[in-house]
Amino acid sequence: MVTGASSGIGAAAARLLARRGASVVLMARREDALRNLVEEIEKAGGRAVAVAGDVRHGADVGRAVTTAVEHFGRLDAAFNNAGLAVLGKDLHEISDEDYDAVMDVNVRGVWNCLRHQIPAMLAGGGGSIVNTASTAGLIATGAGAPYVAAKHAVIGLTKAAAAEYGERGIRVNALSVGSTLTEMMESVVEQVPGIEKKFFSRAIQQRFADPSEIARAAVWLCGDDSSFVTGATVPVDGGVGAV
Ligand SMILES: NC(=O)c1ccc[n+]([C@@H]2O[C@H](COP(=O)([O-])OP(=O)(O)OC[C@H]3O[C@@H](n4cnc5c(N)ncnc54)[C@H](OP(=O)(O)O)[C@@H]3O)[C@@H](O)[C@H]2O)c1
Repeated sequence: MVTGASSGIGAAAARLLARRGASVVLMARREDALRNLVEEIEKAGGRAVAVAGDVRHGADVGRAVTTAVEHFGRLDAAFNNAGLAVLGKDLHEISDEDYDAVMDVNVRGVWNCLRHQIPAMLAGGGGSIVNTASTAGLIATGAGAPYVAAKHAVIGLTKAAAAEYGERGIRVNALSVGSTLTEMMESVVEQVPGIEKKFFSRAIQQRFADPSEIARAAVWLCGDDSSFVTGATVPVDGGVGAV
């Protein structure tokens, strides 16, 4: 199950998971984009199903989990990747509405996913969950304060869930994602031309990642190749914070 599968990192992960033989449930709000991706995956010989929905609503997430179990027998892995950012205005200039939107999609969204996915995984004997955090989950990157707080919370939920369910066969990890060229980033760069220089200044690799570079790490964490990794925040960030 991949949330935020209609574009960017989620779409790249869905394509790669399908290529590696996984049957994939795609969730996001834009139904047309999900349908197109299902078609593309099926044409390439893969298996996918679309569930349009909003991660802020537990019932929508529940439908996606039920669809996974009904269509494909069980839920082995989940990439909880849907997210929303606001630009890095000063904290006191950010509206309550923007605060709520960012916390709801990024934190309640992951919360809703965990609450519905974990029972399905327990019933199936275990699984692997990967939550999309950000370098903003570890440091104040210059992104808006609610986004920094939300991604820190995603890492907190990741650690708590990993600790609670580790002995019951569920691994839970987060990805600390660095600047990646997706719709989200394109809109940020459009609104603040040149902002990428600020993002790159903290990194060793001073460029945007391609979404496929993040997807490969997500797919590794979803599968058994990462069997001794849990509770971790895995950096895929071009070396942010190392120098
Ligand atoms: N790009 C970066 O530089 C960067 C850096 C660090 C972390 N991240 C994180 O990476 C993740 C993916 O973002 P992206 O860069 O790939 O951006 P993106 O292309 O804008 O993708 C965001 C995805 O989230 C979905 N989404 C947003 N709100 C949703 C909601 N309420 N319910 C369901 N789905 C929702 C969007 O689909 P719909 O609009 O169809 O709902 C879309 O599929 C996010 O968590 C983001 O915070 C990105």
